[in-house]
Amino acid sequence: MSLPTGLSINSTVDSDIHSTSLNVIIIGAGIGGLAAALFLRRQGHKVLILEQSRFASETGAALHLTPNSNGLLRRLGLYAEELRANLMEGMAEYDSKGNLIQRTELSVQNELWQHPWLLVHRVHLHEELKRLAISADGKGIPVELRLRSRVTQVDPSASTVVMESGEVVRGDVVIGADGVHSKARAGVPGGDVKPKSSGKRAFRFLIPRETVLENSKTVQFAKKEGELVMWFDKDRRVIMYPCDSNRQLNFVCICPSIKDEEKNTGDEWSSAASKDELLEVYAKFDESLQTLLNMADAESLKVWELLDMDILPTWVNDRLGLLGDAAHPFLPHQGQGAGCAIEDAAALGVVLQSGVTPDEIPERLQLYETIRYQRANRIQEYSRIAGADLGEKKLNMMEFAAYNFGHDEWDNATNIFRRWSWARKPHLYWRMPVSFGPMPGPRQTFEGRPRKADHSTFTTTSIKFKTSRTLLQNLFPSTSFRFKSPGTVAYASFSQTTLHNMEWLGGSGYKHMGLYIHGVQYVQESGEVLNGTFLPVLFENLADPIVSGREELGMPKLLCSLDVWRREKSVRIQAGWQGAIFGNLVLKGLQEVDAGVDKASVGGEDDEGIFAYKYIPSVGERGKADVEHATFVPHAEESKVVPSKVLRVYKAQDASVSFDPLDWEALPTLHHIISRLAEIPFCELVSAKVVEGLGVSDVSSARRID
Ligand SMILES: Cc1cc2nc3c(=O)[nH]c(=O)nc-3n(C[C@H](O)[C@H](O)[C@H](O)COP(=O)(O)OP(=O)(O)OC[C@H]3O[C@@H](n4cnc5c(N)ncnc54)[C@H](O)[C@@H]3O)c2cc1C
Ligand SMILES: *[C@@H]1O[C@H](CO)[C@@H](O)[C@H](O)[C@H]1NC(C)=O
Ligand SMILES: *[C@@H]1O[C@H](CO)[C@@H](O)[C@H](O)[C@H]1NC(C)=O
Repeated sequence: MSLPTGLSINSTVDSDIHSTSLNVIIIGAGIGGLAAALFLRRQGHKVLILEQSRFASETGAALHLTPNSNGLLRRLGLYAEELRANLMEGMAEYDSKGNLIQRTELSVQNELWQHPWLLVHRVHLHEELKRLAISADGKGIPVELRLRSRVTQVDPSASTVVMESGEVVRGDVVIGADGVHSKARAGVPGGDVKPKSSGKRAFRFLIPRETVLENSKTVQFAKKEGELVMWFDKDRRVIMYPCDSNRQLNFVCICPSIKDEEKNTGDEWSSAASKDELLEVYAKFDESLQTLLNMADAESLKVWELLDMDILPTWVNDRLGLLGDAAHPFLPHQGQGAGCAIEDAAALGVVLQSGVTPDEIPERLQLYETIRYQRANRIQEYSRIAGADLGEKKLNMMEFAAYNFGHDEWDNATNIFRRWSWARKPHLYWRMPVSFGPMPGPRQTFEGRPRKADHSTFTTTSIKFKTSRTLLQNLFPSTSFRFKSPGTVAYASFSQTTLHNMEWLGGSGYKHMGLYIHGVQYVQESGEVLNGTFLPVLFENLADPIVSGREELGMPKLLCSLDVWRREKSVRIQAGWQGAIFGNLVLKGLQEVDAGVDKASVGGEDDEGIFAYKYIPSVGERGKADVEHATFVPHAEESKVVPSKVLRVYKAQDASVSFDPLDWEALPTLHHIISRLAEIPFCELVSAKVVEGLGVSDVSSARRID
């Protein structure tokens, strides 16, 4: 067994999380296979294409690059205008007698689509895709293209393919892009289904536009640049459109198949055809059309059986995925066969985006199928409808344009892929704005991983004092809160913390300051009593922790400026809003004491945790809440998340707290809060200290009560 360069036999075993490059085997270098190779190359993968033919030059045929597929090619840097593709500008319909039924200008229609609807010569497109795939220039590793390499068998689990020569090639993933007569198809469940004749065949050829213009009988059909012309009879039609900068006219003459089983099941979709046969098929059509068909070059005339196939139950199996005609052979009546193959390729590029590991391939391929299955089958169904023999119903060429054209598979698949990745992590926090996915914050990275915080530092300055129970209890937002002690003496603290080295803030930090009311109980509906410290308000000087804390933890956070001046023996803290200073905390005579003696908990002492009260107002309904409940952060659980270590403790000889409510002019949004803080009596200093330490918990043990 020999291995082509770049493919390792045990790549799935050897894979480590740092290697983001997959070994991809693509069977077939058609438009679908080459487009997939390009999309996957750009994701950093090593791509090997095995192509049976030696690319004997394809004779004439053109194809529609509709806005949906053209946009995808442009993402690959392929601008078909540079390949002499021309615009599709209008349509003319004739009956078999040569009567003009209608003529449609597409200039207004075309304005709807971000990317132009182009008509391109197949060979030009194919050549350019090939060039871009194997080119040394461009993003990613150049694709390796092996010609005369016919694949006979695929093993979806081992991701190996067997070549006609007996050689076995292994990759991490195998993509079957081997067209309507796919060998890879046998590798998916239900893949033994065979393409069958649709009852129609198509003659294909090109005529120089010049020739048509020179003849007085046919000149009328080729005058307009970018015009697609159709002639209809009940069971046969002729479709002609320009390509190659309007220099050549491409013909697709669709008519009943001859009842020859061999032709229907043949392995080639193109075979030489006789011109006499063509002329005979359209013998009843008007003379000018016959003159036109007579211009066909007998040498290059091809006939193509229009094959259809039952819908495959699945396009993927383990490490094998099908795309393009291998997955869903297309009838040409919507001009979407190549387009859908390109869309498949784009979706593959999205699901196998860089960073994917070999063990993720089966689930990613499943997702690829989920993204593509419905749309491809639906367009195929539309093609059947568009190709059906005409009865009473008039054909409307633009009937399905909105569905077909109004889609960008890169954007669509990217969105589906994102939602899929998010849904697989059910513990992700979502917060406004939700348009962009889960919100990174203190408790998660964008990927949902917890943040490291054991190296973050805190400095907490707190002043605990004796005060009035009867006044403080007025700050309880519900009757479930009460003081533990019946006495009128209560204890509270103002506590200010400065945080540094916070991973979730890119290594920076912020400050907060709150009022903590000690000795509070919450009586739950169950009757169980929780003991804790109630936090009626918490000021912070940065928006990010305010938003995440309000929404994820239900904490009553508000923005203010917090300035801290720390000297050897003193600390002064000043709180303000837009220059209006409303709060001052001062600690004097600081002396370092033994750190082991004092606990770091935020004024908590014997309390078991911190209570807050979450309230989210309803939109458009004043006085109503969408959410309203108490929350609790148990200290014991919190210290398990990130244990914090007290490094130094300084006790103050003296401390003072003062609040100045100013007025509504100076504090238009905070005056009602600061005036209540200013009312709190400072009866007696209990303790004042500065605690420095390491390890900042993310408060992820916060929970809802009742
Ligand atoms: C006359 C005609 C007109 C068309 N017009 C349009 C149009 O206007 N718009 C449009 O979007 N589509 C059109 N199509 C359809 C479109 O060409 C196909 O749907 C599309 O190209 C499918 O691409 P694919 O890569 O899946 O398959 P293919 O183009 O069939 O490519 C398959 C490749 O795999 C190779 N291969 C096959 N078996 C093996 C094997 N065992 N081992 C190795 N290699 C193998 C083949 O040699 C080939 O190169 C038209 C098709 C025809 C014939
Ligand atoms: C993706 O496209 C399909 C049509 O194929 C559509 O039904 C679906 O809503 C789109 N999904 C997203 C997430 O945009
Ligand atoms: C709270 O304190 C009261 C009284 O001290 C006690 O009975 C109760 O068990 C405590 N609650 C909890 C959950 O520990």
